[in-house]
Amino acid sequence: DYEARLAEFEARIARGEKIEPGDWMPEEYRRQLVRMISQHAHSEVVGMLPEGAWITRAPSLKRKMILIAKVQDEAGHGQYLYHAAETLGVTREEMLEALLSGKAKYSSIFNYPTLTWADIGTIGWLVDGAAIKNQTMLAQCSYGPYSRAMVRICAEETFHHKQGKEMVITYAKGTPKQRAMAQDAINRWWWPALMMLGPHDSDSPNTPTLVKWGVKTKTNDEVRQEFINEHAPEILEAGLTLPDPGLRYDEATGNWVHGPINWDEFWAVVNGNGPMNKERLEARRRAHAEGAWVREALAAYAARRQQTAVA
Ligand code: ACO
Repeated sequence: DYEARLAEFEARIARGEKIEPGDWMPEEYRRQLVRMISQHAHSEVVGMLPEGAWITRAPSLKRKMILIAKVQDEAGHGQYLYHAAETLGVTREEMLEALLSGKAKYSSIFNYPTLTWADIGTIGWLVDGAAIKNQTMLAQCSYGPYSRAMVRICAEETFHHKQGKEMVITYAKGTPKQRAMAQDAINRWWWPALMMLGPHDSDSPNTPTLVKWGVKTKTNDEVRQEFINEHAPEILEAGLTLPDPGLRYDEATGNWVHGPINWDEFWAVVNGNGPMNKERLEARRRAHAEGAWVREALAAYAARRQQTAVA
């Protein structure tokens, strides 16, 4: 019966076993995973837009090649994640429909504009830095396909993080104009990067269930603290400042303590009213419409091959 199955499911998780696609799982576990993995997939795909916008304007061939590879990686991450979600019984079409109709969420962070080239380095350092903290945690998650996708994705994100950090530090040590551009980008991306890791634990309705079933192995605030502890001292070390007058190092706990986060801004962005929400969705809808002929051609080709195989 249900209680016995649930007990066995929870015992498996407690033993550190992975839950695999054909295994019994509570409907709520399935629902939570579909929600999270599909949102994550959408984030990767929408995340290609702010950076993709700078490919034609990269300042050197080397930087252009790195950026093209990075944006292509994000498309690959979207692919693994849509596949991981499909193992739970949801179709790619259903997920895309939810994104394009505006029903599905994707990460708040990609609703901010990339105003200068320094934003590209800053996204690598801060946004991918935050993503790595979150995803290293998710690589331990109890659902096999998601955890394995995270291992591969984290390895690639590490390159993204390094190139961003190298770029911002280079500009921070460059001409006054370069330094100002790097500082301006850090000022604009710092708070959105903190928000990206989700609301405080006290305002995070999904965390208790996700932690109970080993999907999250750390809470939003724990991951945010890890992110700040690594990045705040490194940014200051690079000779840049952070736009938080309340930021301080706490000797007693060994943590960098941040000032209050503007959650009104976060919820405005999550609910569709961020600076770039409309543009991002429009760009996705346009890409989907313009790619219709590719999907049709693939379907026609597959059908013809099947016919030939039968004959
Ligand atoms: N952007 C948009 N929505 C968010 C964000 C965010 N940064 N953070 C939280 N939310 C939403 C949640 O999806 C949830 O809404 P829902 O129940 O309608 O889905 C609501 O706010 C409340 O938040 P939580 O209960 O804290 O949500 P959750 O426990 O799922 O934690 C988190 C949020 C940490 C983002 C989690 O979903 C997660 O780890 N997701 C996978 C990683 C991911 O999506 N990364 C995307 C960016 S990384 C990248 O693409 C480079």
